[in-house]
Amino acid sequence: MNSDLKNYLCQIFMNRGKMNQIIPIASDHGGYEMKQFLIEKLRESGYEVKDFGTYGTESVDYPDMIHPLAKAIETGEYPLGIILCGSGNGAQMTANKHPHVRAALCWNEELAKLARQHNDANILSLPGRFIPFDQAWRMVQLFLTTPFEGGRHTRRVEKIERLD
Ligand code: RB5
Repeated sequence: MNSDLKNYLCQIFMNRGKMNQIIPIASDHGGYEMKQFLIEKLRESGYEVKDFGTYGTESVDYPDMIHPLAKAIETGEYPLGIILCGSGNGAQMTANKHPHVRAALCWNEELAKLARQHNDANILSLPGRFIPFDQAWRMVQLFLTTPFEGGRHTRRVEKIERLD
């Protein structure tokens, strides 16, 4: 088998299961460059992407992009999403105002994995100005593919929204 055909078949094999999986992503200017990098990586890997903006490097207010994405997670339009700002803090705080949203601010691979395993996080918040792009991509891959462990964590996650 020639190597082009081998690469092509390999790509199809690696991308199985991702077809029609749409990943929503949003950032302000502080996360814009990393967002563009992640969009390219996601598409190369077989995911579809819904880009909620921002669409350039000019200064914007992160809630303007993050609220629409979080609303789409809240209503169940998408199961998982990615948000970014400079520190990841403003984006995470905005998203977590929405019912049923559990946005996790993560700085490394282990935290991205734990956010899924233990917290059933449905949004990954990334600090676009503080971690290397290739590390962010590894975190996104782990976040999108790691299942919730359930068990004792189910009770804890259910209690998050109980305020009484
Ligand atoms: C924008 O300069 C910056 O404040 C924003 O990206 C974010 O870090 C806020 O939490």
